[in-house]
Amino acid sequence: MMLEVKDLKVRYGNIEALHGLNFHVDRGEIVTLIGANGAGKTSTLLSLSRLPQPEAPTVFGGDILIDGESILKTEPHQLVEDQKMALVPEGRHIFGNLSVRENLDLATYAVAKDVDFVNTTMALVYDLFPRLYERRKQRSESLSGGEQQMLAVGRALMTGCKFIMLDEPSMGLAPVLMYEMFRALKELNKKEITILVVEQNAKVALDFADRGYVLNTGEIIAEGSSEELRANKDVQKAYLGG
Ligand SMILES: Nc1ncnc2c1ncn2[C@@H]1O[C@H](COP(=O)(O)OP(=O)(O)O)[C@@H](O)[C@H]1O
Ligand SMILES: [Mg+2]
Repeated sequence: MMLEVKDLKVRYGNIEALHGLNFHVDRGEIVTLIGANGAGKTSTLLSLSRLPQPEAPTVFGGDILIDGESILKTEPHQLVEDQKMALVPEGRHIFGNLSVRENLDLATYAVAKDVDFVNTTMALVYDLFPRLYERRKQRSESLSGGEQQMLAVGRALMTGCKFIMLDEPSMGLAPVLMYEMFRALKELNKKEITILVVEQNAKVALDFADRGYVLNTGEIIAEGSSEELRANKDVQKAYLGG
């Protein structure tokens, strides 16, 4: 199992945000966590990523395992070096004053010595997102929202991680760019990248993923294959517009 989350409980101060989540992602899968605004999607990804982030909640119960090993006590720098997972965060967090190319280079911290890997992956990123190639010398802040989202995905790939988590990649994107983004993610999945994506846009997420979980106020209330979830009457009513 790539990722196993067991009874995960997190809080902000003394307000509990996740009340004991259980879910998993197998190697090679695309799994989605869908839920309305405030359901706990971002809290889940921030707790999983284990990188020190000021806005991250405190994990106070349960466990997070990658490849069968708990990562709760692993030092952040070790997680980066081990290339366990990469997060494409909400809001993207790219360096606006650096060029596209520089943002990609910066992400290769753990794999920089492997020049072949860096070159091959850079070529893959430019191949998936030709717009990034066209704009590789431009300052990143001049990119459109969709292009910045592409850059954030490219950066995750450059880390060498085979497990990528994305926080609402469809957010703020025009439909054309949104479908381009999901098509690119599908391509990556064929190249053995395992994907966990959280989405408010349940329709798009279930069209894209193999399996999903429904998150509601910090609890998983339904799970199944995308097909099963799409056929579920409660899911239809609450998340698929009837
Ligand atoms: N920094 C924070 N401080 C306090 N509460 C927070 C913080 N971030 C999120 N929350 C609360 O945690 C819950 C889950 O939020 P979040 O994980 O951001 O949901 P989603 O990403 O699904 O919209 C919400 O009730 C939200 O108000
Ligand atoms: Mg969120």
